[in-house]
Amino acid sequence: MVFSSAEAFAPATVANLGVGFDILGMALAGMGDRATVSWRDAPEIVISRIDGDDGQLPRDPKLNVAAVSARAMLTHLGERHGLDIHLVKGLPLASGLGSSAASAVVTVIALNKLLGSPFTREQLLPFCLEGEALVSGYHADNVAPCLLGGIVLVAGITVDAIQALPIPTNLHLALATPAVAVPTNQARALLPGNVSLAKLIHQTGMVGKLIDALHRGDLQALGAAMESDQVIEPARASLMPLLSEMRALAKRNGAIALFIGGAGPALCALCDCAEVARQVAAAMQSAYQEANIQCSAQATRVDRAGAVVLRAY
Ligand code: HSE
Repeated sequence: MVFSSAEAFAPATVANLGVGFDILGMALAGMGDRATVSWRDAPEIVISRIDGDDGQLPRDPKLNVAAVSARAMLTHLGERHGLDIHLVKGLPLASGLGSSAASAVVTVIALNKLLGSPFTREQLLPFCLEGEALVSGYHADNVAPCLLGGIVLVAGITVDAIQALPIPTNLHLALATPAVAVPTNQARALLPGNVSLAKLIHQTGMVGKLIDALHRGDLQALGAAMESDQVIEPARASLMPLLSEMRALAKRNGAIALFIGGAGPALCALCDCAEVARQVAAAMQSAYQEANIQCSAQATRVDRAGAVVLRAY
């Protein structure tokens, strides 16, 4: 064994970016989860402690995203050692900030270090997906940016389907997270089973425009494409308190566009400078509080690094 313990950090992510359902995601700077993973003499994986989840996450390793991801990795290697996992949740659950993806990624990044880094970052994706699938099926639009950082196109769930996209230099974000739980599986249950050919054409065209806007660094075109979703947002809007009011408020305060973070209820406003992002975040927080909805809000940027090992010993 190369190390006996390793600690890692994994960032928040927002999936979809509006119109790119299940195929686009972005890592956010600042917020995230930490985990310390250590070898055990006995063969089982144990969730020894979780901080910051108010006791909500399962401690049973068969039902816990972090443990399932770690188990997938050890099984792949034919490794019989047991593990102790201590998870520190910095991300709120069911908030649209990729909490389950972060639990999976932070554990797998730490475990890879513990093993002496046998896998590249990209090769860790399938193990993270095994954990994420427990919560909401196989979609990589949170785990891929969480693992790799940046803005990512996820055209499938295999490593070769993942493509890093350009990050416009003046891209700033205002993030508001109202304290209303929206479990991803419930938000997915609201989606239509089929869409019309006309909507398919519209959505694919707008995803194309969004990616083109990223390449050109055109925030106005990016915002217009993000807000053009005709399928997912209309089906889920009722789960997001004050969605249309927050969009209008964000724009009055200088934001270019506003989209739902993943399955919500986090809302993400696209801005072109830090000052506007701070002002939009403060305005959204006040408006939620006036409506008696607890909310955390902040200005943020795209995280470029993805998950990182903090220390190993
Ligand atoms: N693309 C997913 C969804 C992200 O919107 O359901 C949620 O984790």
